[in-house]
Amino acid sequence: MRIRIPPFSLFAGTGNPDLAAAVARALDHPVSPCTVERFPDGEISVHLDEPVRGHPVFVLQSTSPPVTENLFQLLSLVDACRRAAAGRVTAVVPYFGYARSDKRHARREPIAASMVASLCQTVGLNHLVTLDLHAAQIEGFFHLPVDNLTAVPILCDELKHRLSPGTVVVSPDEGRVKMAGDFAQRLGADVAVVHKQRKSGTETKIIKVVGDVRDRPCLIIDDMISTGGTIERAIAALLKSGARPEIRVAATHGVLVEGTRSALSHPALGEIYVTDTVAPHHRDWPQLKVISVAPLLAAAIQRLAARESIGDLFQ
Ligand code: R5P
Repeated sequence: MRIRIPPFSLFAGTGNPDLAAAVARALDHPVSPCTVERFPDGEISVHLDEPVRGHPVFVLQSTSPPVTENLFQLLSLVDACRRAAAGRVTAVVPYFGYARSDKRHARREPIAASMVASLCQTVGLNHLVTLDLHAAQIEGFFHLPVDNLTAVPILCDELKHRLSPGTVVVSPDEGRVKMAGDFAQRLGADVAVVHKQRKSGTETKIIKVVGDVRDRPCLIIDDMISTGGTIERAIAALLKSGARPEIRVAATHGVLVEGTRSALSHPALGEIYVTDTVAPHHRDWPQLKVISVAPLLAAAIQRLAARESIGDLFQ
């Protein structure tokens, strides 16, 4: 039975128009018009082109590259909603940029994820919906409800008939062990872990593989692929440990900056599965399979608009 949706508005920044359109289609609800432009000096100008007074509002925007631009659009849209007397304002941020800056790695460094949380609250955000946060404890930077959904079930549905028997789910570092466990449980697979020691923000060093990968196909999972460096090094470590040269990758956020494709051109690597939390811009990369999270986000918006539980969306 279809849930009756009380009136709400859905706005979207320019970060991922295809995802916004897919969410709108899944909801059977239009994206409300808004104008996002630049002043001649480069400053961002935002205008909501329809009233929001008293309406619950959802603002969809991934803070993916260009991160500062997309983040500022998000903050501007939320601020505009609040100043236009909107009801509850919920940001739907499928990819939460700066999430890797969740702690200080050295003295005299900022914690950018905490700064983003503070900014969101300062402009009047009431609720955040996001997906596979790099670190779940980022939720603690917010003093408002945060629903950190996961794309793992969606990715597993896609993967379950495509993996060879005996595939081992591999966490490319200690930070992804829980996520690897979630994949493994759904896929009925074993888990291995690549120990990674970070030398600097961009350089990493692999130490060893923990778990039995000898002559087994592997599925490396991660929350995001940015430069591909982590995956590239995990592939080298797995092959050195005797894994079968039949490796696949699944990650929620395909940030895929310039140069990633060449970093991931190893002959042992087959398909790379990501979702569309970040606008895909590698349309001619046959190995890259993009699975949409639009139905999941639409279901969350629909439930929240109807003030219903979204608990089962985490399962
Ligand atoms: C690291 O802790 C993250 O979970 C990812 O493994 C990492 O950020 C991916 O970045 P890249 O593709 O640049 O190695």
